Amino acid sequence: MLGVSENPARPAAGVRLCTLAEIADPGGKSFRFRAEAKLFAGFVLRRGDTVTGFVDSCPHAGWPLAPFDDRYLTRDQRHILCAGHGALFTLDGQCVVGPCEGEALTPWPVELRGGEVWTA
Ligand code: FES
Repeated sequence: MLGVSENPARPAAGVRLCTLAEIADPGGKSFRFRAEAKLFAGFVLRRGDTVTGFVDSCPHAGWPLAPFDDRYLTRDQRHILCAGHGALFTLDGQCVVGPCEGEALTPWPVELRGGEVWTA
């Protein structure tokens, strides 16, 4: 089985994802890339002019965190929420409540350039 970093569907650095304005502030947006039968799922969080990317796979069961919408943040916007079984993560991806407490989301490097979000 391929590791996350070996997933052929994962976009290389330098791929444009969206404009900053397309992500709610604060909020998140999912991205999906396919290469034949392989899928790469990632999401980007925005807080003002700061963007942070993660692989969209919960360390508990590997499910995407917000499979039906882009609601990655809790209502108070202080944590990332996994819809699967309710795990809560700090905004830097550390699980602090739930079945994967002590584990972390996998970073997906992204950057902001001229009002657009790119893979880094
Ligand atoms: S899959 Fe995320 S908490 Fe279970």
